[in-house]
Amino acid sequence: MSTPPASSSETSPSPASTTWWRDAVIYQVYPRSFADGDGDGIGDLPGITARLDHLAGLGVDAVWLSPFYTSPMADAGYDVADYRDVDPLFGTLADADRLIERAHALGLRVIVDLVPNHTSDQHAWFRAALTAGPGSPERERYIFRDGRGPDGAEPPNNWKSVFGGPAWTRVTEPDGTLGQWYLHLFDSGQPDLDWNHPEVRAEFLDVLRFWLDRGVDGFRVDVANGLVKAEGLPDWDEELALLSGATEDGPTPPMWDRDEVHEIYREWRTVLDSYEPAGSRMMVAEAWVEPPSRLAMYVRPDEMHQAFNFTYLGAAWEAPALRDAVDRSMSANEAVGAPTTWVLSNHDVVRHASRLGTGKPGSFVGIGLGPDDPQPDAELGLRRARAATALMLALPGSAYLYQGEELGLPEHTTLPDEAREDPTFHRHNGQVVGRDGCRVPIPWVADAPAYGFSPTGESWLPQPPEFGELAVDRQEGVEGSTLELYRRAIRLRRELGLGQGELRWDPTLGSDDVLAMRRSTPLGEVLVLTNLAPDPVAVPDGVRVVLSTEDGPHPERELARTGTIATDVTIWALLD
Ligand code: NOJ
Ligand code: MG
Repeated sequence: MSTPPASSSETSPSPASTTWWRDAVIYQVYPRSFADGDGDGIGDLPGITARLDHLAGLGVDAVWLSPFYTSPMADAGYDVADYRDVDPLFGTLADADRLIERAHALGLRVIVDLVPNHTSDQHAWFRAALTAGPGSPERERYIFRDGRGPDGAEPPNNWKSVFGGPAWTRVTEPDGTLGQWYLHLFDSGQPDLDWNHPEVRAEFLDVLRFWLDRGVDGFRVDVANGLVKAEGLPDWDEELALLSGATEDGPTPPMWDRDEVHEIYREWRTVLDSYEPAGSRMMVAEAWVEPPSRLAMYVRPDEMHQAFNFTYLGAAWEAPALRDAVDRSMSANEAVGAPTTWVLSNHDVVRHASRLGTGKPGSFVGIGLGPDDPQPDAELGLRRARAATALMLALPGSAYLYQGEELGLPEHTTLPDEAREDPTFHRHNGQVVGRDGCRVPIPWVADAPAYGFSPTGESWLPQPPEFGELAVDRQEGVEGSTLELYRRAIRLRRELGLGQGELRWDPTLGSDDVLAMRRSTPLGEVLVLTNLAPDPVAVPDGVRVVLSTEDGPHPERELARTGTIATDVTIWALLD
């Protein structure tokens, strides 16, 4: 079981701070897989509420919940049928209220997911559009078009779905004939909305208010770069990956990162800013946009507060690549005065403890890692993951953690095909395994059914045997465990003020194999060093190591004894 924080006022930001998000550590909960309260094998809101102490004990500032709204689950809830209600699988609105209340009592802020690019095909608007037929006002809220070719049998353009297959589906009209096509950048159960329609705009302003009135502190905005499509929907020959075709000089893809999306967020910002205390409600964009200067446009002062920065996540495990990812991210954001964000894992990418144990850590966005792929080196992956996390938590800005990474959980790479639910797998006819491997229910208790995820032992995805040793109860209070490393790093990050202040690379200590960074924070000077060289490097003179990612008990003491930093280890040190 989790230990409650010694004092939540010590581990949490002051409630009056309106810019809490600038350096916050934010923990992503994937509701299906965090904790199951009712025993049906699917995580739910009461399960989360009962386990919020774990997050308070970890010392994070906020929790971001992936969607828990009414949904037929064609894409695990990223297909929303009712934006103002909770899916019965996850609980009720009253359960959401209780979760928000309990989180606030523990000093944790709550961010909910907003999915504005598309609805579910079971949303009342889409059902009405199907019934009302071609040319009706109901169809205008979505992107319906006549097909090309004789009898309109060809899709209106050549766009492909991010999840594989065509981005268009043909409907059967109310009179039983084959009719128009509708656009879905993702699954066919996720029809894209037409953001030129005033009712679509008005609806989402109201949805924002609905959740703000219930007390949420912010929104994570799904596919924030996709809402507006280019006039005329011109053909685009590339694959439609999340990060497709964006380059410094164009050509720009007709479905991603259109300049007109920014108007939408300016309007949303005025809604957020109208809530008290002014400025305390935030939005973070999920926008797979390159280069960082384009991404920075989403965080101009009158738009969003943050945007996920996937540059660091995609960087190779090499000192120059990491340094470059940090520099590019920081300079783009500095130009608009916004804090940078950092993230290593989420529900769409292979967990970093496995990714970093492969030869090609930068890939695996959306496609997963399966039994037929070369298997990651688990030990190497975890070692690098701990070093990468300590580096991330020492960077200025806000850091996002994904549930289970604090336990060092690996990707489940050998899930049986029958268990897979990700539409990516099905739309690629099983040729791409997809994202289920990072969504496996997390282990709480080594010796309990389903490792304590569910009281009945049910689990919507099977858990791999390695999860037992990594359960929360096996790591709690164990010096050198990944869980205790995260706790220590998050606490020190706050005490040392690492989320703010300046960053300088140290040209003497750094090299092509060693990252050495000096952090000047309002609270002092810290040296952060990651050794990526094949051999150990000496601990510099005149420093006192306060954190080391080396495993085993008392890693800082061990380091003082040997005087060296081993390969794939990050240290934080105070300058004497
Ligand atoms: C991004 C989300 O993170 C992903 O899980 C989802 O499938 C797509 N957006 C579509 O909503
Ligand atoms: Mg349940």
